[in-house]
Amino acid sequence: MAWKAIDRVNAPTEESPSLSEPLKEKIRGFFDRYPTKRAVLIPALHMIQDDHGYVGWKAMEEVAELLEITPSDVFDTVSFYSHFWTHPKGEKVVMACRSISCDLLGADRVLDECKKVLGIGDHETTPDGKYSLMTEECLAACDHGPCLMINEKMHKCVDPANVRKILEDDANDKLDIPRSNLYDGANRTSA
Ligand code: FES
Repeated sequence: MAWKAIDRVNAPTEESPSLSEPLKEKIRGFFDRYPTKRAVLIPALHMIQDDHGYVGWKAMEEVAELLEITPSDVFDTVSFYSHFWTHPKGEKVVMACRSISCDLLGADRVLDECKKVLGIGDHETTPDGKYSLMTEECLAACDHGPCLMINEKMHKCVDPANVRKILEDDANDKLDIPRSNLYDGANRTSA
């Protein structure tokens, strides 16, 4: 099984967006729901990524100031979770499971085919901005591996020969898993 560290450290050269006042207000709206401001970091990162598409360096500095923690605290968290992107990602994020069950069922061949068809590597984006590729730990469908998730559409028992067809599947644009609305509004109380 091939484990490898993902390089999420390279800073983008382009300017990254600042937090808008409404977004800051939305983050502040979570302060009274958590015991400390620091504890709001994860929801804040989700809100930033929902709004900007990724968590850029400028946003990391500004959310650090808002939560009264250091930018390195924020970066530690962002770089720990593969879900968070520090640079713009494609319209469709292709997540290839790399955990044990899928690995035993041929996940490496599926990943190789994705790389070949898209012409990109792990945590990279196609030049037209359409697809980003990443490897991910268990996608929770271990008995139907190897699995690929494209945005929120799960593809099970993936045959490498079908990868091109799967990537072009219009169904990838439809949600088949209800999306949490936890971060859609500061006043919501249910997920
Ligand atoms: S190991 Fe791939 S879905 Fe669980």
